[in-house]
This record gives sequence, structure tokens and C-alpha cells, in this order.
Amino acid sequence: MHALGTEIGRALLAFDRAAQCVGIEGDLGAGKTTLVGGVLAAAGFEGPVRSPTYTLIEPYARADRTIYHLDLYRLADPGEVEPLGIRDLLVPGAILLIEWPSRGAGMLPRLDLEIHIGYRAPPESGREVSLVAGSEVGSDLLARLLQ
Ligand SMILES: Nc1ncnc2c1ncn2[C@@H]1O[C@H](COP(=O)(O)OP(=O)(O)O)[C@@H](O)[C@H]1O
Ligand SMILES: [Mg+2]
Repeated sequence: MHALGTEIGRALLAFDRAAQCVGIEGDLGAGKTTLVGGVLAAAGFEGPVRSPTYTLIEPYARADRTIYHLDLYRLADPGEVEPLGIRDLLVPGAILLIEWPSRGAGMLPRLDLEIHIGYRAPPESGREVSLVAGSEVGSDLLARLLQ
């Protein structure tokens, strides 16, 4: 999941003409935060990543661009997304990685890419991941990823 995140991170970092929003869904323990750690590693942020379950949002700033890691698991109501001021973050080059986007349904910007992580059914092990583009920016992102 970390390696996949790094691949996705490279594809995200190759584009800076608009903000990119990525939603990551999957059960607790599926590997969402691990995948985020891979994206951050691609951007040069090494070390363990903790889900911002209580602070909801954690910025990782480089000189040229900022990656925001959001975890909306604790949201009681999508309306609680409003005070986070997400729209102000959507400057060219910004990357938003949003765990549990379903908890903020209707209050989030359009997701350019939706990642679903599921457990494979026994006797198989490991994870099954699907990537769905939600915009033209997301389609370009998928094309870069598959190159
Ligand atoms: N593909 C995988 N196969 C097995 N274990 C994994 C995989 N990806 C992540 N894990 C492990 O699952 C645990 C929970 O991962 P985490 O990324 O915190 O999940 P989430 O953010 O979805 O709740 C971690 O210990 C992680 O190392
Ligand atoms: Mg998590």
C-alpha cells in the first residue's frame, strides 16, 4: 500500500496546474493512512504518518507545494467540514488526500480521484484497490499512473 501510494504520489506531483483532490475509502485498518504515507514519501516526507483523526487536517508543506492529509472519520455531520476552509486550500499544485470522504458528502470539492481499498476474500490475502477518476484532471492522473 505504501509502494502504491508512492506511485500515486509521483503522478500527483507531476501536475501542478490545478489543485488535486483524492478521496480514500476503505474499512478501518484497510491501509488508507499507509497509502498516504507512500504519497508523502514521494514528496520527500519520510517517517511515520499518523491519521489526523482528531485535528481532521494535517498540512505537509514544501517550498513549492503543500499536501494536506484529512481524515474525516470522526465527523458527526458533513456540515463540520465547513470550518476547515477547504476551498481556500485549492490553489494550483495543492494536493488533498482525504480519508473517509463519505463522511463529508456534499461538503467537499469534487474528487479528481477516488481510491477504494478492500480486503480480498479468504483464502486470498492482501488488498484489492480500485481507482476511479472523477474529473478530467483525474483521468490525466490515471493516464500518468498507468504509463
Ligand atoms: N496491503 C496490506 N496488506 C497487509 N497489511 C497492510 C496493507 N496495507 C496496510 N497494512 C497494515 O494495516 C494496518 C492499518 O493500516 P492503516 O494504513 O492505518 O489503515 P487505515 O488508515 O485504513 O485505517 C497497518 O499496520 C498497516 O501496516
Ligand atoms: Mg487512517
